[in-house]
Formats: sequence, C-alpha cells, structure tokens
Amino acid sequence: MAHLADFQQLLRQIEASPNVLFENEVLTGFSGRRMIAALQGFTRLLDPAHFCYLEVGVFQGLTLLSVAGANPEVACFGIDNFQAHDPERKNLNIFNQRREKLGLTNAHLLNLDYEDALENLGQHLGHRKIGVYFIDGPHDYRSQLMCLLLAMPYLAPNALIVVDDSNYLQVRQANRDFLVAYPSYKLLFEAYTPRHPNNMTPEQTAAARQGWWDGVNILVHDPADQLPPMYPPTRRNRLLFENDHFVHASRIGALAPQVLVAANLLFTGRWGRAAKNFRKAYQMFKANPFPGEFDDTNIFAEGTPGSRLNG
Ligand SMILES: C[S@@+](CC[C@H](N)C(=O)[O-])C[C@H]1O[C@@H](n2cnc3c(N)ncnc32)[C@H](O)[C@@H]1O
Repeated sequence: MAHLADFQQLLRQIEASPNVLFENEVLTGFSGRRMIAALQGFTRLLDPAHFCYLEVGVFQGLTLLSVAGANPEVACFGIDNFQAHDPERKNLNIFNQRREKLGLTNAHLLNLDYEDALENLGQHLGHRKIGVYFIDGPHDYRSQLMCLLLAMPYLAPNALIVVDDSNYLQVRQANRDFLVAYPSYKLLFEAYTPRHPNNMTPEQTAAARQGWWDGVNILVHDPADQLPPMYPPTRRNRLLFENDHFVHASRIGALAPQVLVAANLLFTGRWGRAAKNFRKAYQMFKANPFPGEFDDTNIFAEGTPGSRLNG
C-alpha cells in the first residue's frame, strides 16, 4: 500500500516534469498534462486486487481511458449521465468507440446520474475500495460536496481525491467545508490559474494544457493524522452561497442562469444582446410549467406531511 511520502514524491516529480504513461491520438478533450500524469501515476501505486479508480464526469473518455490504458490491471470506473456539454447527444457513442478502439476492457462506464451511482456504489465496485477518486462532474457547490460525502464509505485508507476545476470558488468552498467537517481528510496539493481557461490568452491556454487546466485540489485520507490541516483559500464573505436561498424560493429560480446572462448584458451596455436573451428567458418562462405559486418565498412543500414521528 502506498504512503503519503510516495504521493508527495510523485507530485514533486510531476511538477518538475509530467510523465504521461499512456497517450493516444483518439484521446482528445479538455484536461492538463499534469492532471493526466497525476491520475495515471497515483493509480499505478494501487494494488489492483483490492483497489480501483473511480471518476465522476467521463465526457468523451479522455481521463478514464488514459488512466485505464496506463493501468491495464486496475479496474477503472467512470460515472456520467451524458446530460451536460452534449447538445447533439454524441458523447456516449464517442466514449464507446474510443474504448473499443483502444481495447480497454478494464474501463467500466456507469451511465447514471452521479447521485444514483454513488448511493449504490457497492453494487458496482464489488469488494474493491476506491484508491483514486477523480471528481470532474457538475461544479455547483452541492454536487461537489455530495460527490465527496457519498463516496466516503467506499474510500480506501490513504485514498486520493483529485478535484478538477478547483479554480471555482464554489468548488474550493465545498472542499474546504468537507475538510473542516472531516479532519481525517487533508489537502495534499493545490494549484490554480488566475482565470478560467475560457478567459485566457492563447499563451495562457497553452500553459494550462501543460499544467492542471482549470485548477486542482488533491485531498488525501490521512487517518493517522500525518499531515497538518491545510485548506483551499475561500472568501470569508459567503454572500454568493447565501443567495442560494433566494434563487431556491423564487418563482423563476430555475431560470436564474438565463436571467443572469440577460441582466449582465443589460448592465454592461450590450442592449441588443440583452433584449434577445431576455426574450429567450421569457419564452422559456411561458413554455415551461414553473411550479412557484408566489413571486418569492415559495417553499415547494408538495410531498411534505403535516407532521410525522418516526418509530
Ligand atoms: C468536464 S466533463 C468531464 C471531462 C472528462 N473527465 C474528460 O476526461 O474529458 C463533465 C462531465 O460531467 C457530466 N455530468 C454533469 N452532471 C452530471 C450528473 N449529474 N451526473 C453524472 N454526470 C454528470 C457531464 O455529462 C460531462 O460529461
């Protein structure tokens, strides 16, 4: 079983010069070279008889198939429901074609929503515990926290949890909240870029591709308490998280992303585009049944009993 010192040594080596163990021209996608080297290298330290690799967020298979290719003895599981970033619904086919072309029989897909998959993970993993867990699915605060919490019963002692897109404040906050609540997990490594790759210059994007792409937090289960506590930086002001309450209780909370896009365009003087986006949001409002009966303070109480005592 690998130790903390092995993980630290591998990270030092990857920071100096990332050694990617398996690559193939069919494996395109969005990730950093250091990220792929770390996932492959950490998985190589696992005893395949007892431990497996798991990821949430497969997309077209770049990370899952890269890790499986570099570690043919290790069972590698990926969870994706192919509902996001896939307007033409082609990612599942692309993943299957790539897996077949590479002949990677140790790469297993769980075509499910991550909550459904993680709540019943024992059925899929069998006797194996998760040695390396890569989280790269939905990046909202709750999903990030749930990905951590639901996997806990299946994590090996010394398990590594690699969290992609840790540039985002809400991802760092979820990781911090988890680390504060469960102090036997420690932050082992963190790396960030000053902006998201979408907002980078071509030179910055090229550097991110060689690095960790959109920021990383690597957590380690440290039941022997060998590492001191360390937390990803967050803002002390929690306003954005507290705003959740108003989004949830608004009649049009489900339209928050579209309305924010339109309002941002309006506030920054791009009126033509703002009008178009407000029209689009309004059409969605008219076309969809929005369950909120009131402007705000909707509580969505359907299904709740008047009162109930257990036992
Ligand atoms: C950034 S991509 C993952 C990239 C991937 N690791 C790679 O190597 O290219 C995020 C993926 O998370 C998946 N996803 C988003 N929400 C999900 C959910 N609720 N359950 C399962 N998968 C989800 C999306 O379908 C998408 O394919």
